[in-house]
Amino acid sequence: MIREACAFANANIALVKYWGKCDDPLNLPAAPSLSFTLHQLGTYTRVRFDPAYDSNQLWINGVLQTGEATQRVFAHLSRLTERKPTDPCVHVYTRNALPTASGLASSASGFAALTLAATAAWFGPERTKEMPWISTQARQGSASAARSLLGGLVVLSEGQPGDNLSSRATQILAEDQWPDLQMVLGVLDEGPKPLSSTQAMNHTRQSSIYYDAFLRAARTDVAQAIDSIHHRDLEQLGDITECSALRMHAALWGAHPGIVYFRGVTLEALHAIRALRTQGHPAWFTCDAGPHPKVLTNRATAALVGETLQSIPSIRHVLFSSLGAAARLCTECP
Ligand code: PMV
Repeated sequence: MIREACAFANANIALVKYWGKCDDPLNLPAAPSLSFTLHQLGTYTRVRFDPAYDSNQLWINGVLQTGEATQRVFAHLSRLTERKPTDPCVHVYTRNALPTASGLASSASGFAALTLAATAAWFGPERTKEMPWISTQARQGSASAARSLLGGLVVLSEGQPGDNLSSRATQILAEDQWPDLQMVLGVLDEGPKPLSSTQAMNHTRQSSIYYDAFLRAARTDVAQAIDSIHHRDLEQLGDITECSALRMHAALWGAHPGIVYFRGVTLEALHAIRALRTQGHPAWFTCDAGPHPKVLTNRATAALVGETLQSIPSIRHVLFSSLGAAARLCTECP
């Protein structure tokens, strides 16, 4: 029997960063995180299990993949479907509306869309609504993917070692509840990151003098960020966002050897955003496991932030996003 389904998931940008695991096999985060689901910036994925196939294949943006990315995807599918060796092979077709593996959160949207499509194909669409189960499945593929299953502003709770259900995503605010909130992304001409986030997290946990301090701060930051969201307090949310990003990168710099994702242009963007703030414009910098600067702001300021980023040489283009919706099944993937 052929089993097939398509899904779309938006990427998300963490306002309070997740960095570090407390249980590697279960992929449980060592601290909570909080994210902004993007709008129409994400990944389409089609999964097809077919007895006629004689090998598993992964296609990303029309290119057949080999190596580490492929193994991670097929390991995720085997865990999710609990497949036996006699079960049919699978082909996965993925199209990213974001640069792949470059710190622009493509693994979050990628694993969220993959989890949704594979669940619908293998078990039927009803199973995709089983919330703790599907959230846990996505998190095991990539922790940030659990956040991409949901729309709006989302928290992923801290894991307890050995307890697979301990860490799951919950929505703090729906996407239509804060229409003024905006994210502006500066995209550099940059290929995939040299070190995967899992490798970099483990290295940070093992060797950074600032790792424990980062985890402690993340717990307080999430609690305060939730409070600012309930009060629609952009000033406080922005302040936490910028601090959390810099604390995560400080933990990375404090590893041995230190990991530096920033480029010169990333720092230039940080200073330009701070300069806007001194002129009274509400805008706060964030950055993930890559060099691309991202900025939390409001609708009235987004165009100015976009012009500011665009005027920095090496920023190739700028993307704008309001809060986006939850991941969904699609009748067809484009
Ligand atoms: O879910 P992963 O393994 O791709 O890690 C995501 C890590 C950051 O993007 C840097 C932070 C975050 O919370 O999204």
